[in-house]
Amino acid sequence: MKILITGGMGYIGSHTCIQLMAAGMTPIILDNLSNSSEIVLSRIHHLTGATPVFYQGDVRDRHILEKIFAEHEIAAVIHFAGLKSVGESVAKPLEYYDNNVHGSLLLAEVMKNAGVKSLLFSSSATVYGSPLKMPITESTPTGATTNPYGRSKYIVEECLRDLQAAQPELSITLLRYFNPVGAHISGTIGEDPQGIPNNLMPFIAQVAVGRREKLSVFGNDYNTPDGTGVRDYIHVMDLADGHVAALKAVGLKPGLHIYNLGTGQGSSVLEMVDAFAKASGKEVPYTVCARRPGDIAECWADTSKANRELNWKASRTLKEMSEDSWRWQSQNPKGYGSQE
Ligand code: NAD
Ligand code: WQD
Repeated sequence: MKILITGGMGYIGSHTCIQLMAAGMTPIILDNLSNSSEIVLSRIHHLTGATPVFYQGDVRDRHILEKIFAEHEIAAVIHFAGLKSVGESVAKPLEYYDNNVHGSLLLAEVMKNAGVKSLLFSSSATVYGSPLKMPITESTPTGATTNPYGRSKYIVEECLRDLQAAQPELSITLLRYFNPVGAHISGTIGEDPQGIPNNLMPFIAQVAVGRREKLSVFGNDYNTPDGTGVRDYIHVMDLADGHVAALKAVGLKPGLHIYNLGTGQGSSVLEMVDAFAKASGKEVPYTVCARRPGDIAECWADTSKANRELNWKASRTLKEMSEDSWRWQSQNPKGYGSQE
């Protein structure tokens, strides 16, 4: 079964390709390499013994999409391609709406013309904004997001909801990721942020490996057990397995399917620092500074719907997330650029 993976060279997409291949499926990758490296292909080959078909191109390019659907019988599309930095989205809203919203709409239109009926969309816990109650369930209200990135995800969700209502034969799955971290257990593929990392785990990893001096902890005066922000960190391999599970359970069934993909457990910034220091055997110096604008105190998922309906549950621990992230970081101190 051939699955088109847009953004398949990126962090979550590359790990998902590996798990799809392990499940006997054939990923076909479309990626414009705007935030990834072609080296990922040889790493996938190294890990699986096969190299996925790769199209270098943009999801906003109708011709390349039509070409892919003409050349392959695609059973489903997993749509990862997009821009993902909250801060950058505030400075460049049009780029974010163009890439994330226009890209998704064009993809849906070309899929319709090609008769491809299954789409799984990379959404985010950010669509829930600042919920009043934890844990977050799939029926927690969405839409009160505070930045263009989050709004782009919310808008695409709503467009896909309308599309599925208009064409009930479609299978549309909205997967709302919590905080993906970690790397493949081999340390061969992982997260490779360009420039200064925005996210906590890659920042900690770069401090541990000596690329950055210390971590800034954004506030320790939240109403949480140790005062620092609490998030639901999920191992990227568990997240990848979640895609395979969703594809098998609901991905070919008509309907609108919505799932939180998290662990159901919250961890604080200081717990993450501690776990990483233990896993790496390195110190992770930090200073506490002001809260980051737009941050919420805490956020974790109710994952019971995914556990029940997808027969999937995240199983990898904080220790494994930290150890695997460290293996990737220490073997590739400059990310994929280490090999250039
Ligand atoms: P990533 O940047 O590593 O991967 C995205 C990939 O898409 C990259 O390889 C990039 O080159 C490619 N791409 C970007 N725009 C494209 C375009 N117009 N055409 C073709 N390819 C394009 O990001 P990721 O962390 O793997 O995230 C994947 C998806 O999951 C994104 O949609 C992101 O918004 C969503 N998501 C990520 C997180 C997270 O914390 N990483 C959380 C929730 C949701
Ligand atoms: C986690 C915690 C920070 C960096 C973001 C997006 C979200 C989703 C995942 C895509 C918070 C603290 C962080 C640092 C710190 N992405 N922190 N020092 O903000 O939960 O979610 O990524 O969809 O949309 O908003 O993740 O990793 O940035 O922060 O103290 O240098 O770490 O304040 O409490 P966040 P994060």
